[in-house]
Amino acid sequence: MMFDAKAFIAEQVGTIRKAVPGKAIIACSGGVDSTTAAVLASRALGDRLLAVYVDTGLMRKDETADVSKTLNELAVQHRILLAADEFFDALRGITDPERKRIIIGNKFIELFEREASPFGAEYLVQGTIAPDWIESGGQLRDRIKTHHNVAGLPERMKLRLCEPLRDLYKDEVRATARALGIRVAERQPFPGPGLAVRIVGEVTPERVAIVREASAIVETEIQAAAASGAMVLPWQYFAVFLPVQTVGVHGDLRVYGHTVAVRAVHSVDGMSATYSKIPHDVLDRISVRITNEVKGVNRVVYDLSNKPPATIEWE
Ligand code: XMP
Repeated sequence: MMFDAKAFIAEQVGTIRKAVPGKAIIACSGGVDSTTAAVLASRALGDRLLAVYVDTGLMRKDETADVSKTLNELAVQHRILLAADEFFDALRGITDPERKRIIIGNKFIELFEREASPFGAEYLVQGTIAPDWIESGGQLRDRIKTHHNVAGLPERMKLRLCEPLRDLYKDEVRATARALGIRVAERQPFPGPGLAVRIVGEVTPERVAIVREASAIVETEIQAAAASGAMVLPWQYFAVFLPVQTVGVHGDLRVYGHTVAVRAVHSVDGMSATYSKIPHDVLDRISVRITNEVKGVNRVVYDLSNKPPATIEWE
């Protein structure tokens, strides 16, 4: 049977109202799932819902402004917490990928708790969707999603859970998002730890700025090529900062510049993936734009690895 987004919204608004007699909070990441859950819960609860968005400094270009605009437009009561400095301080000197994830997850919970506690909520709304909890064989997904779903919060803050999207698959969430008027409905998945796992090695503000600008160029060029019919839109496509400097020329001078890798993959659920066969002229535009527009980068490489043996992210 075809999924009926309007009917789902009407039904869930009623269900949430019954299930949540008091106040609720939600950690809104700016992604499709949490934004959809926030808007749905806000339709049901109005001012009894508080959405908290933490800008970790590791977000995509314009993401914080976009999230703020969306939540304003859809009248979701929210707070935006600008916390880049705290995250950069906590990540200084850290190069191990899993340590980065743990530090970011803990910091996120600490800040979220600080911001949300005074509101006095008894419920936590989460944008968990069916593939997040359905057994997927290797258990990998459960582990990957730990940070994303702010695990630990419900017990720590003594909150009861409300998961309105629990039975939906991604395409159904996108349909619901569109029916709710959410502009980020088609956005590609983005990992909870953000750009930190797209920087190999230490996370610094300079490296984040490079990978953010380069990723915005990758997104723009690939979306334009897909819209023109030159290629199929990949499942995920982004830039990665590599901690190597190589020789380049600038005018008559020999310089050392940074290297950026472009990653684009096709996948159904992120569990396995094949690299996208992007037309060379699209790769060429991406490379020329990155080396021209992103200061300090003189080399762009394309990642030809499938998952397995590689993973989609580099960390
Ligand atoms: P990998 O790199 O493991 O990624 O092939 C598979 C999918 O999961 C996303 N991913 C994450 N999502 N927190 C998340 O919420 C994480 O720590 C994390 N690591 C990877 C990745 O973007 C891809 O869609």
